[in-house]
Amino acid sequence: MQWQIKTYEILDSTNQEAKRLIQNTQMDEVLHGTVVTAGQQTSGKGRLGRAWISPAGTGLWMTAIIKAQLSLEQTSLYSFAAAVSVAEAIRQTTGLMAQLKWPNDVLIDGKKVSGILLELVPCTATEYYIAIGIGINVNQEKKDFPSELQEKAVSLAMLSNKREELTALLSVVLQKLQENCILLEQYGFTPLRDKWKNLNCMIGREVTVQKQGETLYSGVAEDLAMDGTLLVRTVDGLTAVLAGDVSLRSKNGEYSF
Ligand code: BTN
Repeated sequence: MQWQIKTYEILDSTNQEAKRLIQNTQMDEVLHGTVVTAGQQTSGKGRLGRAWISPAGTGLWMTAIIKAQLSLEQTSLYSFAAAVSVAEAIRQTTGLMAQLKWPNDVLIDGKKVSGILLELVPCTATEYYIAIGIGINVNQEKKDFPSELQEKAVSLAMLSNKREELTALLSVVLQKLQENCILLEQYGFTPLRDKWKNLNCMIGREVTVQKQGETLYSGVAEDLAMDGTLLVRTVDGLTAVLAGDVSLRSKNGEYSF
């Protein structure tokens, strides 16, 4: 497959544009492999209904459209392919030690550098596309983040002390994404899960699980299950976390990203 890149200076959201493309597509039009990128997003969307701040020219704001080859129940596993790809691309292009936090945040030195928003869009009664939205903070300075995010978010340039090339990063992310989607589709979750586990910074650490800002329980992150849920060992036994926010306990005892 050859990725077809559609570049926009400004969009509401690359995921929204991808969904519009899918909804307006003609039967014979091939959208599999289309990538939407924007220099700026005016309504960037994050997970759990949050906004994703996407100022002009400072980050990689992109959505890759692929025709799902997995069953509906397994679709969320594509988000692990995306997270692994972003971490691998960051490591390869910058040398920075990107790590993964469940389900698909990419952190460096414990701060969030990238997030992934996967959306599913039916195209026929039985087939559907996946819009894989990826946001990577690339050239922001600390002051470019809203004050409440300044201690939690980071850009690649803030860590490497130089401006990073967006197009070079995009091309490596897409190359890795293609490789990791093929790995998942051809060999199942096991090899991709192994890669995720090698890149993760959660397993073996104390975490809290929250929903809408409220702490539900704490425990030790024990494993990534074959269905993509996070297994957390609590006083009541092993619990599978399906969705929501998981915070890591830091050395000073506080829970952060
Ligand atoms: C998260 O909350 O961590 C997910 C953030 C996903 C942001 C990206 S930026 C490109 C794409 N378009 C959007 O509106 N969101 C995703």
